[in-house]
Amino acid sequence: MPSSTPAASILLSWYDRNARVLPWRSRPGQYADPYRVWLSEVMLQQTTVQAVAPYFLRFLERWPTVAQLAEAPVDEVMHAWAGLGYYARARNLHECAKVVASIHDGQFPDDETGLRKLPGIGDYTAAAITAIAFGKKATVVDGNVERVMARIFAITEPLPASKAQLKALAASLTPDDRAGDYAQAVMDLGATVCTPRNPACGICPWMDACAARHQGIEADLPAKVAKAERPTRFGVAFWTLRKDGAVLLRLRPPQGLLGGMMEVPSTPWRETAWSFDEAVPEQPLAAEWRPLSGVVRHTFTHFHLELILVAGRTGPNPQTRGIWCPLDKLGDHALPTLMRKVVRHALAKAY
Ligand code: ADE
Repeated sequence: MPSSTPAASILLSWYDRNARVLPWRSRPGQYADPYRVWLSEVMLQQTTVQAVAPYFLRFLERWPTVAQLAEAPVDEVMHAWAGLGYYARARNLHECAKVVASIHDGQFPDDETGLRKLPGIGDYTAAAITAIAFGKKATVVDGNVERVMARIFAITEPLPASKAQLKALAASLTPDDRAGDYAQAVMDLGATVCTPRNPACGICPWMDACAARHQGIEADLPAKVAKAERPTRFGVAFWTLRKDGAVLLRLRPPQGLLGGMMEVPSTPWRETAWSFDEAVPEQPLAAEWRPLSGVVRHTFTHFHLELILVAGRTGPNPQTRGIWCPLDKLGDHALPTLMRKVVRHALAKAY
C-alpha cells in the first residue's frame, strides 16, 4: 500500500532542485513570456526537447515577438521549420501569430477558452500556456503526464480508453498555486525519472505514493492497446539535372503530408513497389532515367516509406512545373528531412 499521497508540494520541491534548464523556461517561481511558451510548446508536440532547442533559439533570434513572426512571409517560416516535421504545425503557427498580432493586439489570451480558439492550439497547448505563462490553474496532459498518472494510481486500463480517467487524476493533483511549475515538474519527472523504460524509482520524489511501484507493475504501465503495424509505401523520386547542373524541385500542395514544403518530384507513394515502366509516366518531364543504387528510407507516423531514385539529365530549357535550384543553393529551400535524405543519397550516387 502506498504510504503517502502524491502531494504537489513534494514534487514542487523536487522541481526547485532538479528542473531541467531549457531555453524557453523561466526560473522556478517566475512566469515565462507567453510568446516563448507558445512557440516552445508547439515545437515540442511530437518532437524531443533536444531537437527543439536549436530551432527555438533560431526562431526567437529571427522573430523576437509574435508581431514580427506574423509579418514574416509564410515561406520563410516553413523554411525555418524544415527538419522539425509535422509541417501543418508551422502553417498553423504562422496563422496563429497573425491572429494574435491583428485581433489581439499582440497579446495572447490568458485563459484556455480564448487560447483554444486560435489556429493550431488544442487542449494541451492551451493548458500549457495558461499554466506556464499566466500561472493560472490548468491541467496539462501530455504522454509524460499520462505515464506518471497511470503509475502513481496503478491504472491498468489501456490507453487510449483510459485518457479521460488519467486527465481527471492529473486534475485532482494540480495545485492552485504554482500551476506552471507544477505542470513542468510532472513533465520533467516523466522525462527524466518516470521514464517509459527502466524508471528510476529509487530517486523518485513520489516513490512512497506510487501504487504501481508498490504492486511491482510500474514497468508495465501505462498499458496500451497494441497498435496496428505501420505499412510500408513505395515511390520513385526523379533526380532531374538541367544542363547547367541545377536540380528540379517542386512545391508540395499546402494541405496534406509535408504540405507546403519543397520536394524532389516523385511518383505517388503506394503500397506496392513500382516497376521502372510503371514509374516513367509519372516523370516530371521526358528524360532518359538511370536508376541509382540503394533505397532512401523514412518513417512517418502512419507508414514507412521506401524511395528509389532515378536520375535524368535535360537540355538547357526544359519546360515543367517547379524551380531549378543550383546544387549549392539547396540549403535556401524548405526541404523536409525526407527530402534532405533524398538529396544526400542522390549526391552520393549520381556523379
Ligand atoms: N514537454 C513539453 N513541454 C514541456 C515543458 N514545458 N517542460 C518539460 N517538458 C515538456
